This record gives sequence, structure tokens and C-alpha cells, in this order.
Amino acid sequence: MKISATSALVLNWTDPALWKSPEAIAYNQNLDVSEGEKLFQLFSAEESFMHLQSVSGRKYFMKNTVCNFLDALHKQDLSGQVLILAAGLAPLSIEIASLFPSSQVFDVDKYLMHDKHALVNGEPQNIEFIACDITDLSSLQEQLTKHDFNKDKPSIAVMEGIIYYLPLDGLKSIMKFLWQNHMAFACDICLKPELVHVQTRKYVSDVFRKIKDEVGLDFINFYSAEEITSLLEEAGYTKIRVTNMQHIQKERTGDQYPFTETDSCWVMTVYAE
Ligand SMILES: C[S@@+](CC[C@H](N)C(=O)[O-])C[C@H]1O[C@@H](n2cnc3c(N)ncnc32)[C@H](O)[C@@H]1O
Repeated sequence: MKISATSALVLNWTDPALWKSPEAIAYNQNLDVSEGEKLFQLFSAEESFMHLQSVSGRKYFMKNTVCNFLDALHKQDLSGQVLILAAGLAPLSIEIASLFPSSQVFDVDKYLMHDKHALVNGEPQNIEFIACDITDLSSLQEQLTKHDFNKDKPSIAVMEGIIYYLPLDGLKSIMKFLWQNHMAFACDICLKPELVHVQTRKYVSDVFRKIKDEVGLDFINFYSAEEITSLLEEAGYTKIRVTNMQHIQKERTGDQYPFTETDSCWVMTVYAE
């Protein structure tokens, strides 16, 4: 299956060792990422190395955050639900659903959900694929109900690699919707370039310029840790933890390199409940 250029770019920049279940490994191997080739070629080996570290770090955070959430429930003999918004063709839902067969996972994206469903082909069975614009909250609510999302079960929502492409009002409404539905929330943001260390700032400016030029985006929204915290508070969340990639890199690889300063990386991860 061919996939869109930006999805393919992100998949090219993911350490495949992150996926442990046979289902996610098989799925990943069957994806054809050649559509992202032209975009991928615009980056030097050094740039690709830096983006591989930052994308792999954010994916590591999302997977671990969801696994920790479900593990904690499991210990109390409970099962949870996972809502992945703007899931794209990434293997996260397949990995989580395979590792937690008693949890229901909901993959939502505007595009390619039918193809993803076909490629997964019932292995694992506990994923619902929903084609929906995530800023259209009445449709999202309707679709979730149609797919048996249970409002009374503990749930976590993930928004990875999407917040920078959403208008601010759309993001605010989604956060409010998730809070009103009692969902814990994991996401990543891209820092405003001026908040990134001068030695690595060029990576953030360049990546979005190249993506913008190649796929014709008209805006990118950057945030600071304080701004995303206030938006989450405004939505209703009270416990908010923003983590920089230096910490995640050390946990993931055993070394902070190449994020040697706290502000070396342009991606920050967020957990809220
Ligand atoms: C860069 S990809 C990220 C995919 C995946 N979350 C990841 O991190 O690998 C962005 C995804 O957001 C989806 N998307 C963008 N705007 C959307 C919207 N309004 N509603 C649903 N999906 C959207 C795109 O189709 C694409 O799959």
C-alpha cells in the first residue's frame, strides 16, 4: 500500500526496534514507504539522524504512556480503551491492541482507514478503524458511539504528530471534548524555534519549511510548554506533565546524545489527566 508523503517520512524516521509484537512487526514490513522518497531525499544524513532520534523518542513516549496506563488498570482487573486521533498508518494501534488483547483500540484519521483496516486484516481483532475529521466533534462522537466506544471505561487519547497541523480553535475543542469524556491524554508539541537551543534550531525550521514546500501546507502551529499547559488547564485538565526529549532519549537509548542540552530538541511530550 502506498501512503502519503508526510506519513511515510515519519515512518522512515522511526526506529523499527520499537515494535515488539509479531503483528506490528509484520504490519510495518508490509508498508510501502516509497511515496515519501522524494521528501526523504531532501534531508542530509545528519538531518535524518536528528529527526530519527526525535520521532523515535516521541513514539517511544506514546507507546510507553499507553502501556503504563493499561498496565495500571490490568493490575486492578480492569481493561481500558485507547483512542488514537490522526493515527495515520503508524503501527501504534496494532502494537497496543496486540499487547493488550482485552483493551479496545480506536484508530481515527481523515484518510486511509479503509486501507489500514484491510492491511491489518483482523490481526489483532480489537481495533476499530474510523474515517473521520477529528475537528468535527459531533461526527467523532457519533462514530465512536457507532463503534461501541464505552464512555464508562477508563480511556486514554493519543494525539501524536498532529497538533502542529491543527488550527488553535480546533485543538481547544478537541481537548475539551476529551476532558468531558474523562480521557487521560498524551500528545506531542513542536516548540517555537526561538525556544530551541541555537545549535539545533535549524532542524526545526528546516523540517517544516521542506514539508510545507513539498506538500503545500499553509500554516504550522508551534507552542511553548507554558502555552500547552494553559490550553490543557482551560480544557479542564489539572495534572499536566511536559517532558523534554533529553530525558526520553536517555531512557530510550541510555544516553542523552544528541540532545545534550535541555532545550536541544524541538519536540516535547505531554501527559495530562
Ligand atoms: C504526520 S501524520 C502523523 C501520523 C501518526 N499519528 C504518527 O505520529 O505517526 C499526520 C496525520 O494526521 C492526519 N490528519 C490531519 N488532519 C486531520 C484531521 N482534521 N482529522 C483527522 N486526521 C487528520 C493525516 O491524515 C495524517 O495521517
